[in-house]
Amino acid sequence: MNLAAVITAAGSGSRLGRDLPKALVPIDGVSLVRWAASYLASVTDRIVVTAPADAIDDFVAALDGVAARVSVVPGGSSRQDSVAVGLAELADLSDDDAVLVHDAARPFMPVAVFGRLLEAIEHHDAAIPVLAVVDTIVSGVGGEVEYLDRDRLGAVQTPQAFRIGAVRDAHKRAAADGIVATDDASLVLHYGYRLATVEGDPLGRKITYPEDLEAFERRFSSR
Ligand code: C5P
Repeated sequence: MNLAAVITAAGSGSRLGRDLPKALVPIDGVSLVRWAASYLASVTDRIVVTAPADAIDDFVAALDGVAARVSVVPGGSSRQDSVAVGLAELADLSDDDAVLVHDAARPFMPVAVFGRLLEAIEHHDAAIPVLAVVDTIVSGVGGEVEYLDRDRLGAVQTPQAFRIGAVRDAHKRAAADGIVATDDASLVLHYGYRLATVEGDPLGRKITYPEDLEAFERRFSSR
């Protein structure tokens, strides 16, 4: 079984309040996208990165020397479109091969989680890392509020692992059916494929706000 990875990094990251694409923001002198690619390079030698169309050269430079064959392609107008573009770059892989779809915004997800995901897709079409929810969660904000049972909830992280045939098929059908989702496993589940969960990790938290970045800077800065 071949294994490749897609890193989505084409977002602007405007909530971070920086004037460069989020994935190029450095921690300890290394851009977020390079942190993510370096972790993935320990399990795969082939990585596709979706980048903002006007920053391709900067991303190629940021990824220079990562220990894998890295292609940088212009992303789409949504995360879902960007993943579809990334998967299209892997057209030569066969349906039974595997792909990890990861967000550059979660660059510090530990390699141990990749292992759990890859083991899970030996018997499933897809696997997601899930972290227990620590906050009490409500739905219907601004309207009729409903409290949800926290013990049954989990926060979904990336990377998500797939048999590539399943995620390709789900993306193609979702595009035709006009279905939009915030992750890829929900599409795969929607079209009837078998989805497993594995334990996620707090280090896989998404970097969204300046405070998230500061927390990782404190943890990963060597100076
Ligand atoms: O916006 P959000 O935080 O959900 O984005 C998740 C990931 O998707 C980020 O790594 C971002 O760079 C990526 N993305 C993308 N193409 C887009 C929008 C977001 O690759 N058009």
